[in-house]
Amino acid sequence: MVKLSPPRRRDERRRQRARRNVINRLLEHRLIKRVSYEKYREKVRHVYDGPQGALLATCSLLSLHTPLGERLFRERKFDLRGVRRILDVGSGAGQLAKHLLKYADPEATITCFDLSHEMLRRARTRLKNARPRYLAADLTRLPFPDGAFDCVTCGYVLEHLPDPRDGLRELARVMMPGARMLLLTTEDNFGGAWTSRMWCCRTYNRRELAEICRGLGLDWSTELWFTRMHKVFRAGGICVEILRR
Ligand SMILES: C[S@@+](CC[C@H](N)C(=O)[O-])C[C@H]1O[C@@H](n2cnc3c(N)ncnc32)[C@H](O)[C@@H]1O
Repeated sequence: MVKLSPPRRRDERRRQRARRNVINRLLEHRLIKRVSYEKYREKVRHVYDGPQGALLATCSLLSLHTPLGERLFRERKFDLRGVRRILDVGSGAGQLAKHLLKYADPEATITCFDLSHEMLRRARTRLKNARPRYLAADLTRLPFPDGAFDCVTCGYVLEHLPDPRDGLRELARVMMPGARMLLLTTEDNFGGAWTSRMWCCRTYNRRELAEICRGLGLDWSTELWFTRMHKVFRAGGICVEILRR
């Protein structure tokens, strides 16, 4: 076997990564790039209103996102202590809101919003809790004043935007300086490409997304992993704590 020098090994690794990216890009769902945002948003609403949305909570359980997501809060990798006004973006079936109810201080307010009325109804039924405020809204046009929240959780929603800036700008606006956000989103790897096919969404490149966030005053403070295995195999998508500058 030919032994490569370190720079050539690095080049070879880069080439391999580029080849893998081409395959992932070919696999990735294309709708988000083909139609206008309005048309795409209607499709997303339709998907989540329907049977796929009804199965969302079960899917999150089977893919272990619900139990692994809880670990982030339980082990205080994302620490909810002391936060007072929490916004849960694209609450879906209330998967993250369930953890917020369990781990946030009792006096913290929780606002859940989603594009789909049907998902909000499902979240309400599942959570059986009068504490959160539920409302229908689009991440690109938030009905909240500037600096209204000191904590945001945004789980697997950003991949439903053709341009992440439209959602991140709004989140930066409603976060007060120093506020923290837990952002989970689909990454541009093989697992992410399959997820995008299932849920008609896009994927993100970790470095590019971090750069976009920085440009909007949202600094990546800590990259998080569900488990050590996830870190080793770069699995589970992007999971990061973000700080509003
Ligand atoms: C995969 S689910 C995420 C559920 C939950 N946050 C979690 O972490 O598992 C995505 C949710 O985002 C909602 N969504 C998609 N695009 C949205 C948008 N532009 N504004 C608000 N919600 C949106 C969908 O209706 C769906 O309920």
